[in-house]
Amino acid sequence: MSAYASELQRQGIRLGLVPTMGCLHEGHLSLLRLLNGKCDQKAVSIFVNPIQFGKGEDLDKYPREEDRDLDLLSREGCNLAFIPHAEEMYPSGFQTYVEVEELSKPLCGQFRPDHFRGVSTVVNRLFNLTRCTVAAFGLKDYQQARVIERMVEDLNIPVELVFGEIIRESDGLAMSTRNAYLNADARETAKYIPKALEWARSQAEKGITDCSLILDGMLMILNPLPNVKVQYLSAVDPWTLQSRDEVGESIQILLAVFVGKVRLIDNIRIGPGSGTKPIEGVIV
Ligand code: PAJ
Repeated sequence: MSAYASELQRQGIRLGLVPTMGCLHEGHLSLLRLLNGKCDQKAVSIFVNPIQFGKGEDLDKYPREEDRDLDLLSREGCNLAFIPHAEEMYPSGFQTYVEVEELSKPLCGQFRPDHFRGVSTVVNRLFNLTRCTVAAFGLKDYQQARVIERMVEDLNIPVELVFGEIIRESDGLAMSTRNAYLNADARETAKYIPKALEWARSQAEKGITDCSLILDGMLMILNPLPNVKVQYLSAVDPWTLQSRDEVGESIQILLAVFVGKVRLIDNIRIGPGSGTKPIEGVIV
């Protein structure tokens, strides 16, 4: 990868990168399309990054579908798939980590303490290895996007970032590799997650400005559902990720929900300054 990257650099060829953990779906592919016109060659990295998984999380059972992924990528006009081994990414003696301190703490960070340290470390490493000039990330992992943006800013990393909207199933559920873990009943229940977010948007559109009223209403939708446990539900400033009481111009509502044993995350921007369209496929 390193040799290929220096050759591209020598020839002035700009590489765009979509970092992924594989088992690709439309959410990933939409990011690849977002790179069109911003670079000369497009690369996707596939690496199930062990250091971003906590103890008891799904590292071992995380789905791997390399042949199918490669097939999808070649059909999308991706020039390069970078699929390193864990021993290559973390050889013995590896000891340098990147930590984006404050943005990594709230929301998912409360429950996955070393997760974002693992993400920022691997993304930094992927940037250095591929020498990409542009990289795309999805807003499905909203906190991750903010963490990477901060890292790029703080470390003067010469990579342009582009962020892609959340791609959803026809009933509104955000696409995710982990949706494959849902059985039929859980899948049926999971569609109430985007419904609750869309309900929050409708409240803000009606002029409700008190975040606690909005969050309480969402909990009334989510808590009675079978086998559902809300891990967190927060209304935060879209940039600092600090909790907010009032909607103001715009707030980001983020949640993590267990449906049975499957942990799903989703988010939405609401408020008069949010200027985004309703979630497609969701009728509230
Ligand atoms: P992964 O979950 O495979 O996601 C790779 C990229 O696809 C991320 O930027 C994620 O936000 C985006 N993505 C996933 N589902 C999406 C959806 N429904 N709509 C839009 N974008 C979506 O996120 C990771 O991998 C890892 O943490 C990684 C950044 C690769 C570091 O290991």
